[in-house]
Amino acid sequence: MSQDPDTAVRYDVHGDVAVLTIDFPPVNALGAAMKEGMVRRMRQAAEDDAVHAIVVIGDNDRFVAGADIREFGKPPRGPTLLEVQDLLEFSEKPVVCAIDGHALGGGLELALAAPFRVAASRAKLGLPEVNLGLLPGGGGTQRLTRIAGPEVALDLILSGKHIGAAKAKELGLVDEVTDADLLTAAIDFARRKADAGGPWPRAIERTDKVATADSALFEKTRSANAKKWAGTIAPFRIVDCVEAACTRSPQDGLEFEKAAFKECLEAPSRAAQVHLFFAERQAAKVEGLDPAAKPRDIAKVGVIGAGTMGGGIAMSVVNAGIACVLLEVTQDALDAGLEKVRGNYDISIKRGSRSQAQVDAALGLLTSTLDYDDLADCDLVIEAVFENMGVKKEIFGTLDRVTKPDAILASNTSALDIDEIAAATGRPENVIGMHFFSPANVMKLCENVRGTKSSDTTIATVMAFAKRIGKVPVLAGNCEGFIGNRILKIYGQEADLILEQGAAPWDVDRALKGFGFPMGLYLMRDMSGLDVGYRMRQGRIEAGTLDTSSPEYSPLADRIVEAGRHGQKTGAGYYKYEGRDASPDPAVLDMLRDVAAAKQVPQRRFTDEEIVEQILAAMANEGAKILEEGIAQRASDIDVTYVYGYGFPKHEGGPMFWAQRKGLDKLLEIVRANHAKFGDRWKPAALLEARVADGKDWDGKPIAGAG
Ligand SMILES: NC(=O)c1ccc[n+]([C@@H]2O[C@H](COP(=O)([O-])OP(=O)(O)OC[C@H]3O[C@@H](n4cnc5c(N)ncnc54)[C@H](O)[C@@H]3O)[C@@H](O)[C@H]2O)c1
Repeated sequence: MSQDPDTAVRYDVHGDVAVLTIDFPPVNALGAAMKEGMVRRMRQAAEDDAVHAIVVIGDNDRFVAGADIREFGKPPRGPTLLEVQDLLEFSEKPVVCAIDGHALGGGLELALAAPFRVAASRAKLGLPEVNLGLLPGGGGTQRLTRIAGPEVALDLILSGKHIGAAKAKELGLVDEVTDADLLTAAIDFARRKADAGGPWPRAIERTDKVATADSALFEKTRSANAKKWAGTIAPFRIVDCVEAACTRSPQDGLEFEKAAFKECLEAPSRAAQVHLFFAERQAAKVEGLDPAAKPRDIAKVGVIGAGTMGGGIAMSVVNAGIACVLLEVTQDALDAGLEKVRGNYDISIKRGSRSQAQVDAALGLLTSTLDYDDLADCDLVIEAVFENMGVKKEIFGTLDRVTKPDAILASNTSALDIDEIAAATGRPENVIGMHFFSPANVMKLCENVRGTKSSDTTIATVMAFAKRIGKVPVLAGNCEGFIGNRILKIYGQEADLILEQGAAPWDVDRALKGFGFPMGLYLMRDMSGLDVGYRMRQGRIEAGTLDTSSPEYSPLADRIVEAGRHGQKTGAGYYKYEGRDASPDPAVLDMLRDVAAAKQVPQRRFTDEEIVEQILAAMANEGAKILEEGIAQRASDIDVTYVYGYGFPKHEGGPMFWAQRKGLDKLLEIVRANHAKFGDRWKPAALLEARVADGKDWDGKPIAGAG
């Protein structure tokens, strides 16, 4: 860091209190110069006979942001965080950290080492390291546990959430909260402490909250979350560290935490989490948008259709405090939809994820109607009726007539042509796709689909709106299936063709689950029911748009339905069922052998790794085609789509990240080998070939060591 340590931390004396002001722009991060400045100023204050107490405060609208990202990956310089913390913790004069803005990660860990903390009422505190696959490795797990007890520490560190100053005071993390001038309050507080005399509290030596800790808590936390955390390391190590704070000496606990931090830092899953953290933020940005196109204010939303999707979308809207009117064709359908919404809220109250007051507030914002005129004052209408172009066009025609001229009209279609829907209106520039995922009140992804005529304002508005209702927006172009379902088709098709080559459905499911998908593909199909897909395929066969003589068409799914096996609901599908318990069924293998014999597909054995590699390589090659066509703005958007919408394991970072980590040259090798063996469906994406030829990554950046 080029900044001078003496300006990075300024020194002033107010009466008998030294004020150390951290002024290390832009965010007062724990960089080399800032830490050196802290060491110098703490020594200066210690030696200053006129000083009886010390206040540490931040400039630049915050306390301290955390580690300095500008120093990531570089050899460490300057004093360590530990050296600075020791000076605060063992100071003979009382030290008060004055917290405004954010005290996150290393910033909070610094403050926790001081004997006292005073916070502005608007301040936010948190240890968000888990979001980047890490744990608070600067004593955060040890001090927080000793101050607030293991339950609170687990909750805060495992969630990575920010808490407000009032909550922090309730938990004992800060000693005083003020609405008045923070510096004045902190100086008064420090002077009072100095007058009262020491010794000053040391969080790391406190035992009152850990002595009574229930040891079963840790095992319970690990087993309750084992599934959710599979493939990651940080959450497990966080539990270990909090447990260590309850069972070990301060020094042992800190060393245990240091080793656990190192383990997280070096874990392969971390790179994937870091990738996703930045990918999610990047996905919300739209390239090439007119800077003058500002998101419109959305005060009221209409939702058409109170079925599976409409009800969930409406819940997301009102949960964000925005008024919503739900429209249906019949009173019965409306009642059934509202009943489902209320049922979902009841479950969330029982689970403790929402309070009765929150639910009452949300339901207070939800109205319902059978009359389109009630949509007249909506700023945005989201249509979620049956996936049928005729019905959707008719609805958009009506919406065009009844809504105000600048209202945005969005469709939740999974695959239909947004331009054709937009053409049913006189305002195609205000029409766009907003593709939510089921259950829509839970799933994070919102795949916004720009039509040819969608205006920049419309795009900017739905991207901002999706974020406002707690979703992760991704922008897609208009093609069959957009980003997500287009790749899903390839995923399902490749899996079906692997079955024809000799694997059983349960082999594929085991391999995918082993990789980290929450559920196997065939179990999922059985759960959703096989008859809807069957009817859709039959319709396409009749219309002549599905070629059953193509090598890509696998008849197994149709044979299964024709045998009366419609999935879990009929007790048989790809599996056979006792209630909800699935087990492999030799009858399916017989059907599969017949299908393979009729298509003359040679049989072989697959390892789980081969199954995963074959399916993921097909997905990544399709992803490259999607990129090359401009349907996705960037490779990482495809990863975000798959992780937040399709259960792709977070610790693998998404299909494009998976491919890049494997090596794009290796991916191309697999794709070419399959192209030679299976023909067109494996045609290498031109973009993939170009990137490999140029030694570049998906984004066109040179790959280190290539070329
Ligand atoms: N279910 C999913 O997993 C999922 C996921 C993403 C997108 N989608 C898409 O969302 C849309 C809705 O799917 P769904 O699963 O909620 O369907 P659904 O059958 O559960 O609900 C559709 C609802 O729309 C109502 N409806 C039908 N015609 C209407 C009209 N003219 N006016 C008002 N209401 C009408 C029906 O009464 C029904 O309640 C479809 O376009 C679908 O492709 C579904």
